[in-house]
Amino acid sequence: MYSSGTLRIHELTSEERAVYATLKPECLPQHVAIIMDGNGRWAGHRSLKRFLGHQQGAKSVQLVTETASRIGLPWLTLYAFSLENNLRRPRAEVNFLMRLLKSYLESNVERMMDNNVRIKYIGRTHELPPEVQDKMRWAEEATARNTGTTLTLALNYGGRSELVDAFRSLAAEAMLKHASFDRITEEDIHRHLYTAHMPDPDLLIRTSGEMRLSNYLLWQIAYTEIFVTERLWPDFRGIHLLEAIADFQRRERRYGGLGEGSAEGAGAADEEAEAVKIAAG
Ligand code: FPP
Repeated sequence: MYSSGTLRIHELTSEERAVYATLKPECLPQHVAIIMDGNGRWAGHRSLKRFLGHQQGAKSVQLVTETASRIGLPWLTLYAFSLENNLRRPRAEVNFLMRLLKSYLESNVERMMDNNVRIKYIGRTHELPPEVQDKMRWAEEATARNTGTTLTLALNYGGRSELVDAFRSLAAEAMLKHASFDRITEEDIHRHLYTAHMPDPDLLIRTSGEMRLSNYLLWQIAYTEIFVTERLWPDFRGIHLLEAIADFQRRERRYGGLGEGSAEGAGAADEEAEAVKIAAG
């Protein structure tokens, strides 16, 4: 149920295999989302220009994606360029990130094919430069028939603007069908998100130690487990993805309930009777 495509565990490095051996393959997350942070700091620590941090970060994207595909992770969603990055970073950095994205796609589609990876995008991608959009479409079409990991790049993405776009399209649909707004359900909202075709993330990883969500997948992460590492994104590799998954597998997900081993059933009935006695004095 959880794996997608063919497992290629033999292609993991020996260090990765050692961590993988500690995992429960039947309990792999279906969807891992990552806030890739720390490219600038990585470069700064080496007295390099920020651009070089982004370039190194693009290598991490490919290596982490390949490990994800080897272990059969169905969905990997990476925050590659936020709406805020687009509005608030110097033009030279934004232009560099756009060129880097184009060249990343040009040089990695072949490796995506070898790894059975399908690439998709979420965000207001229609606002990106036309030549970048052309390259994105080309990579998406080239990899569309792959059946392994779906790598989704969030580009010109913001969680709040995704909700605005979803509400606008939901309102348009409701008006067209003469449906009344007070019948809108969570399921309707889900259908109009950029991520309607995928499950919500089970695990959200953030690199470089910041304890922030930075406007990422706000609706979708309601019950997502969060893993923050001090490691900067350009130093993040497949083995660190596996370590984050190992940590995730040690968590108990309760979705607002009481979880396993709690006083549900007979125990809960006893507790209720006790509470009634106390309330009655
Ligand atoms: C944060 O680093 C990261 C980004 C601005 C976006 C992530 C971009 C990449 C990983 C490179 C390109 C990706 C692809 C898919 C080609 P930061 O600059 O905010 O780091 P800092 O907080 O240390 O300054």
